[in-house]
Amino acid sequence: MAGVFIAFEGGEGAGKSTQAAMLEAALQRAGYRSTLLREPGSTVLGDYLRQYLIGGQPVSPLAELLMFESARAELMAERVMPLLESGAVVIADRFAGSTIAYQGYGRGIDLSRIEWLNDFATGGRYPDLTILLDIDPVIGLGRVNERQPQLALPMGDAPDRFEDETMAFHDRVRRGFLKQAEDNPETWRIIDGNRSIDAVAASVWNAVSQLP
Ligand code: TMP
Repeated sequence: MAGVFIAFEGGEGAGKSTQAAMLEAALQRAGYRSTLLREPGSTVLGDYLRQYLIGGQPVSPLAELLMFESARAELMAERVMPLLESGAVVIADRFAGSTIAYQGYGRGIDLSRIEWLNDFATGGRYPDLTILLDIDPVIGLGRVNERQPQLALPMGDAPDRFEDETMAFHDRVRRGFLKQAEDNPETWRIIDGNRSIDAVAASVWNAVSQLP
C-alpha cells in the first residue's frame, strides 16, 4: 500500500488552507483516508516553532530557515511517513517549495543550500502532486488584510521593517513558486487562485483526479 502525497503552495491569501480543507473533505466523501497537515505545524515541535516563526521576535534568515527545516524533519518522521506507509492520502498546506520561495527567492539565501536542506529534512520524499495556487500578491495580501489585518505581516516582522519591502518580497516569492512549477511540470500544477472558491476547487479536483 503506497500512500499519496499532495501539497498546496502559494503566497499569502491564495486560498491554500480553504482549498486543502475542501480537498480533504472531498477525498473522504469519495472513500479515501485523507489527512490534512500544515507547515510549519501538525506536530508538537512544529506548532511550537510556528508560534515563534509567525508571532515571535524576528530571527536571522539562517536561523529562520533552519527552524522551518526542523519543523519539516519532525513532520516527516512523526506524521507524513507513517501516514504514507499506512496507505493514506496526505495533504500538506505548504511544504518544501515554500522554503525555496520565501527563504530563497524572498530572503535571498542560496538556493542550492536550501535544496540540500530540503532533501535532508524530507529524506527525498517530495509530494506526488504540488498544487500552486497562483495569485497576484496585491490581491492576496488585500484578501488577508480584509480577514485580519495583523496576518498581512506573515513572518511577524516589525511593521516598519516589513512594509517597505512587502510587495517586492512577495513578488519575488511568487516568482519563486512559478519557477519551481515551470521546472517540475511532471509534479507541479499551476492553478489561478484569483477565481471563486468553487471554481478553484473544481480545478484542484481535476488535477488530483489525474494522479495515477
Ligand atoms: P501560512 O501557511 O498560514 O500562510 O503561514 C506560514 C508562513 O510561513 C507564511 O508566511 C509562509 C511562511 N513559510 C516560510 O517562509 N517558509 C516555509 O518553509 C514555510 C513552510 C512557510
